[in-house]
Amino acid sequence: MSFRPFLALVLALTLALTLGAQPPRGMVVSQERLASEAGAEVLREGGSAVDAAVATAFALAVVHPAAGNLGGGGFLLSRPTRGQASFIDFREVAPASAHPRMWLKADGTYDEAKHHDSLASVGVPGTVAGLREAWRREGRLPWARLVEPAIRLAREGFVLSENQAASLAEQLPAFARHAPTLAQFSRKGSPLRAGDRLVQRDLARTLRRLAKDWTDFYRGRTAALIARDMAANGGPITAADLRGYRPVRREPLGGTYRGFELLAAPPPSSGGQVLIESLNLLEGFDLKAAGPGSPAAVHLAAEALRRAFADRAQFLGDPAFNPGIPLDRLLSKAHAAELRATIQPDRASVSDPARFSWELDRPHTTHLSVLDREGSAVSLTYTLEESYGLKRIVPGAGFLLNNELGDFNAVPGLTDATGRIGTPPNLARPGQRPLSSMCPVILVKDGSVLMVSGSPGGRTIPATVLATVLNVVDFGMDARAAVDAPRIHHQWLPDRIQVEATLPAATQEALKKMGHALKDVPKQGCAQVILVRHGQAEGAADTLRWSDSGAVGE
Ligand code: GLY
Repeated sequence: MSFRPFLALVLALTLALTLGAQPPRGMVVSQERLASEAGAEVLREGGSAVDAAVATAFALAVVHPAAGNLGGGGFLLSRPTRGQASFIDFREVAPASAHPRMWLKADGTYDEAKHHDSLASVGVPGTVAGLREAWRREGRLPWARLVEPAIRLAREGFVLSENQAASLAEQLPAFARHAPTLAQFSRKGSPLRAGDRLVQRDLARTLRRLAKDWTDFYRGRTAALIARDMAANGGPITAADLRGYRPVRREPLGGTYRGFELLAAPPPSSGGQVLIESLNLLEGFDLKAAGPGSPAAVHLAAEALRRAFADRAQFLGDPAFNPGIPLDRLLSKAHAAELRATIQPDRASVSDPARFSWELDRPHTTHLSVLDREGSAVSLTYTLEESYGLKRIVPGAGFLLNNELGDFNAVPGLTDATGRIGTPPNLARPGQRPLSSMCPVILVKDGSVLMVSGSPGGRTIPATVLATVLNVVDFGMDARAAVDAPRIHHQWLPDRIQVEATLPAATQEALKKMGHALKDVPKQGCAQVILVRHGQAEGAADTLRWSDSGAVGE
């Protein structure tokens, strides 16, 4: 080799090694670009990943009222470069008056409206306490600085996109049942249009109070507004319930997949259990050889999910009320091997409705992923349960209430093929957290964060997150392709594979021939992914499924 090509090679190698050793550029990915920008700005000022996640979450509470929230709850998974990974559970809790039969009428029949669409379906909100707890542990910038972008967006307003305007217009009949909610989200009862500015003054005032003193939500004026609204309208949440709310710090669930380390959500979410159990099962198959979107790959993923969801129904619930959840066994490679042996390579299994059944999805939640320049990561999923939760704001406080208690089982002891499940682990009791499917996840390779992922979508969440992991680990996709690829879901019952319509027709036909029933949906979830490749952070927002989503670099 002559001297010049040799020199060029040495230079290229040095550059590659240097780049490889660089910490990745910071990145925030969420369902609204405006919120991602709020988080990225915090990173530029030297904030930590948790700082950015807190700022993004507060901003989403303003610009994505369908799921971003103050009045709901969620989970924040953090993996700092230095220190322990942690999981902050800020799931809503049932108030002190809750009981397993609280959604039955006097004659003992189930009252679905009460379960999903009444003040009795509201859990004591956890978001403000959860964000504060994460910040207390790993925040760097002042708390008030992190709330400031949300205050500005609420006070000055923001210009509605097509998506946002259409989403608000769709909810107008529900908002119209409650005058203060209609006033906040319409123009005197008429739908707001794309290009209109949505100003939320009460929400701005609430945020200003929280910026000064976060305990205002649980013990101050905000708490009083919630308790007053509840008392005036027969709702069960009291000032004592609010004062008693505490987020819980938990150990993240750990797993491995083909040499990658996984951190995921523990109970009261089932997200980590379904994801890790499915991955353990799939580890025994050569998915790469089958290829993405192939009949074999989809069949195997569906069969893995089917089995993981059956275990979910049997065992999962709030650990404080279910001390015997056999997580070690469910997440063991031995359990996966036993389940794997029951899968036929070219034939659908049958879910036995006599075993369990459960209700259809109510898929509205939102996720954000953050990576800071030091390689610390946050994966945060939070929710109001349904889109816009109860579709009812707290008068004078300007934020929407959740209807999260709808995630509890409906009727104790009643498990039937129409979609009810009444097994004990997930029945409402005072202070219990309803079982969730939210699945914030962080993948680690050789000690460094490789991927941050998560999604909304009710029980489809673990399947969407699973798809992003398989697309990266098995199929070698970059972040963009991993997010865009067609998704599938199976949840044991109903016994069918939900497929995005973009799954190739030939694959769909082959799956039917294997005995699978299929249900086409236009889209599943809204994954927000960061992937570290070649020493750089690639952000892929799920613009295909919600075009406002945005990845913003530091
Ligand atoms: N409410 C959606 C979930 O927690 O899974």
